[in-house]
Amino acid sequence: MTKAKVAVLISGRGSNMAALLYAAKAPDCPYEIVLVAANDPLAPGLTLAAAEGIAIFGHSHKGHKRAEFDQIIHAQLQKAGAHYVALAGYMRLLSPEFVGAWENRMLNIHPSLLPKYKGLDTHQRAIDAGDTHAGCSVHIVTAELDDGPVLGQTPVVILPGDTPDTLASRILIAEHQLYARTLADFVTRERQPDWLLNRVREAALALPQADETLSHGMPCFGIVKGKKFAYVSRDHHGDGIIGLLVKTTAPEEQAMLIDRDPARYYRPSYFGNDWVGIRLDIDDTDWDQITDRLRASWRQVAPKKLLGLMDVAEEF
Ligand code: GRF
Repeated sequence: MTKAKVAVLISGRGSNMAALLYAAKAPDCPYEIVLVAANDPLAPGLTLAAAEGIAIFGHSHKGHKRAEFDQIIHAQLQKAGAHYVALAGYMRLLSPEFVGAWENRMLNIHPSLLPKYKGLDTHQRAIDAGDTHAGCSVHIVTAELDDGPVLGQTPVVILPGDTPDTLASRILIAEHQLYARTLADFVTRERQPDWLLNRVREAALALPQADETLSHGMPCFGIVKGKKFAYVSRDHHGDGIIGLLVKTTAPEEQAMLIDRDPARYYRPSYFGNDWVGIRLDIDDTDWDQITDRLRASWRQVAPKKLLGLMDVAEEF
């Protein structure tokens, strides 16, 4: 199994980063840390990460416009080959461009039971409100601060006499457990057959008059009462692959694609030369490209009348 490549962004202590890093040392952990970056070159977490043999990047945000600084970080993430980003005490508001570039691939940990107490002073606010429990949440990062779908939470009891500091240090223990586990689940999710099928389904059924059936045990997509334009193959004839089969758009395209990227493209057994298999179970699937491929395949089998309607719709 290849491990998902994760970069961690910090601003200071980096204890959550350390928790992610040490969890990643387990042989069965599905992710590895490829970079720890900070907006403060003196962040203590950077020293630890470097001593643990992880690539680091520290650069002060001072003197940079927000989007410009985010672009510097983005370039480093790309250079490190990161596929996911984990924010761990990263005290910077992010530009919409950066959030957009990492959409659905960036997580954050926040020390409250979201949606309660977004922003700062969460511990004090939970105590002041007389809550029985505070806690922590891991969520997907969206444009709004501490918003975005919550992936996991741990409630932590508030004890009589708790101060923000005593509560924070207890919540931190829970954070370290929650973040590593939730990140592991999250990166695994995108390799699950059902998740992959759902992603294809969404794009395939968005095409005009598309429907879904089963053929030889494979979910497949066609034009209502018409020809098939896509199959999702899962361990077909024991090949161990989860792949999308689509029609090619020109002779020799199958051979050309396989030649260009043999790790991703393959010749699907029993489908002949005018179909190509695209592996969905390796990292870095470009879902925009998959959507384009589905559309192109749909066009190969669509009746003329439907093609005409599609052309008109695409002009707008
Ligand atoms: C944590 O409490 C985290 O929830 C919040 O910032 C703090 C970072 O601590 N976002 P550390 O740097 O991970 O030790």
